[in-house]
Amino acid sequence: MKKLIGPITQVLTMERLPLKGALKDEQLEILENAGILIEGEKILEVGSWQSLKKEFPQAELFELEGNFVAMPGLIDCHTHSCFGGSRAGDFAMRNAGKTYLEIAQAGGGIWDTVTQTRKLRLEELAEKTVLNANRHLSDGVTTIEVKSGYGLSVEEELKMLRAIQLANQSTPADLISTCLAAHMKPRDYEGTNSEYLQHISSELFPILKTEKLTNRIDAFVEKSAFSPEEIAPYFKKAREMGFDLTVHADQFTTGGSKVAVEFGALSADHLEASTASEIWLLTTSNTISVALPGASIGLGCTFTPARKLLDQGGALAIASDWNPGSAPMGDLLAQASILATFEKLSAAEVLAGITFRAAAALGLEDRGKLKAGLLADFVLFPTADYREILYHQGKMKPEMVWKIGSLEGG
Ligand code: NIG
Ligand code: FE
Repeated sequence: MKKLIGPITQVLTMERLPLKGALKDEQLEILENAGILIEGEKILEVGSWQSLKKEFPQAELFELEGNFVAMPGLIDCHTHSCFGGSRAGDFAMRNAGKTYLEIAQAGGGIWDTVTQTRKLRLEELAEKTVLNANRHLSDGVTTIEVKSGYGLSVEEELKMLRAIQLANQSTPADLISTCLAAHMKPRDYEGTNSEYLQHISSELFPILKTEKLTNRIDAFVEKSAFSPEEIAPYFKKAREMGFDLTVHADQFTTGGSKVAVEFGALSADHLEASTASEIWLLTTSNTISVALPGASIGLGCTFTPARKLLDQGGALAIASDWNPGSAPMGDLLAQASILATFEKLSAAEVLAGITFRAAAALGLEDRGKLKAGLLADFVLFPTADYREILYHQGKMKPEMVWKIGSLEGG
């Protein structure tokens, strides 16, 4: 059954925009007084409301009243939204001037979340993940990457990834899982960093394949986590087994983006500490750069050099990094709008970063634009002018969220 949705004041198709480089708002394709024709899970056509109505008289009409701007469903290509506990204590300590080390010594940091997450049963963890996913969905995020990384043993990482798989069956949003067992060496592992990574790659990777738990491997390349030298054999093994790679890179110190580019990772995420040479490496590679403004806001740190990355021809996606430690806000649109004001990004650059450029960071080609043949994932904001969406800095929520051809909550 075909369904025709409209009339829509402005449809931002995100079509005919390059994957890489700076964008001007004039480059956005805006269809006025338009309709979106869908069949099942897919988009059949996007075009003039009047013409589509005439051409497809048998289509079921979903008539809108008032002004709306439609755009592709938002894609959050980096989250840690599967976790137990809270790190409000860390937040208070950090704002009181305590250092990373002092917070860790007081029982905070990633290890605190590992402890809280390990306490939960798989079903409880799945339930929390569904709540987070549904909150994101009502903000217009229809595809959400979710990392493990708070289990940090073969069994506990499996629990997390199975919980994400279970959550995916209980939310209309698409959850794309990633294994981040290389988040830090767990405190209860007796051995070196390299031994831990060797253990994970030989014991956990094969199960990820047989249970189809994820096709993505991430690593935190950082002084406090793993060095490029330690990660190299881990990534080599992952790549040999056919996993896609992504890296937590250059958050506080550099080194990670070089690993990402050398191993052909789909994305290098964070990049707050990237200097001219890392920016050059990234922008001359096929690895997508992912800015995580939520972590900069959460930690009170500098933003990813998004303007420079774009001006030098890079592909920039923007994600929330939603996690209990450094980015508790979990509001992709608000964070992307704030990044725009600090880094002087056009609306086209921001919207590309949370749609088709984010899809590319996940290796997904079936979403991120409003175009025939792609998934019918789109959101409708209650406004006549697309510029209002970012202008309200996250306060304007979509009035309707369509996921694979169904109106959510409708
Ligand atoms: O992406 N950078 C490392 N990992 C997370 C933070 C995780 C945590 O603090 O729990 C991040 O910011
Ligand atoms: Fe992260």
